Amino acid sequence: MHKIAVIGGDGIGPEVVREGLKVLEAAAAKTGAKYELQDYDLGGERYLKTGEPLPDSVLEELRGFDAIYLGAVGHPEVAPGILEKQLLLRIRFELDQYINLRPVKLYPGVETPLAGKGPDEIDFVIVRENTEGLYSGMGGIQYKGTPHEVSTQIHMTTRHGAERCIRYAFDLTRKRNREKKLTLCAKTNVLTFVHDTWFRAFNEVGEADYPDIERDYAHVDATTMWMVKNPEWFDVIVTENMFGDIITDLGAMIQGGLGVAAGGNINPEGVSMFEPIGGSAPKYTGQNVACPVAAISSAQMMMEVLGEDDTARRIENAVERALASGKIKSLAAGKMGMSTSEVGDLIAGFAGE
Ligand code: IPM
Ligand code: MN
Repeated sequence: MHKIAVIGGDGIGPEVVREGLKVLEAAAAKTGAKYELQDYDLGGERYLKTGEPLPDSVLEELRGFDAIYLGAVGHPEVAPGILEKQLLLRIRFELDQYINLRPVKLYPGVETPLAGKGPDEIDFVIVRENTEGLYSGMGGIQYKGTPHEVSTQIHMTTRHGAERCIRYAFDLTRKRNREKKLTLCAKTNVLTFVHDTWFRAFNEVGEADYPDIERDYAHVDATTMWMVKNPEWFDVIVTENMFGDIITDLGAMIQGGLGVAAGGNINPEGVSMFEPIGGSAPKYTGQNVACPVAAISSAQMMMEVLGEDDTARRIENAVERALASGKIKSLAAGKMGMSTSEVGDLIAGFAGE
């Protein structure tokens, strides 16, 4: 029995999470996967009411679950940075979810803006480090509001943090068993300290323990270029936190948009959290028009990490069939030709067959 905490969160979060749970229920009814859900009303509304983005007691409770299923975080009436840092990033950091796993996979039937590229060319995984780098929160502002204002935001990197992420990426590359190629995306020509640590860790770990995996390196600017021009060159990309944030939005676009891009914040030894990578999309809130596919695929990733492979395969298969059916006109919010819940029904129908 898996214990899953559900945080619908802000904006379209609760709407898409509802569909994810609908599909999960349909799939689990067939496979016999057992889980129990507990809802948490974390997010902007609660913060505006109570002034607390994430009470310590709730964080402690979250440690007791097997997984967390999250919709979205971000509220138009809350200043930028509060919910992001004190809710989302705090969970990622405190639960040590040091991997942000973001597959870039174009399913048949889904439109990509890349001319001449299809499902055969767009199928790789980005492993984003999720607890360090520019996200560490270290730094500050001195002499604020004066002409002498100084601000710093420290790119905190540890050998331990880089190495555990790199090892995870090597293991994943081996498990995928495709090109057996792992690309390190960094900027060693400018970030000559922090990315030197990454570069040496990458080569030392690869040399010592993964001789069967080809090591490839690309600067981040070149990575964005290749992702557009030659996405088929990639099998697995491993990268630091901020670069990973940026290139996974590009990845989302080439796989059909934020409506389909799933993600997992993974602690391989602890509690992981699964969330669609698109945000709360305030302008679509409550209209039942957001695309739930990313949330549904995030539930699939959750089942994978929980060891429920049959349920995961069943969900993926249902998503694939729905996307290939031609019934969903577009995967952009408001343009699906169907409502959020109708898309959920369609996929749940396949998942339960
Ligand atoms: C993401 C988001 C977050 C991030 C924000 C909301 C803090 O953009 O999950 O990619 O930067 O990690
Ligand atoms: Mn992002």
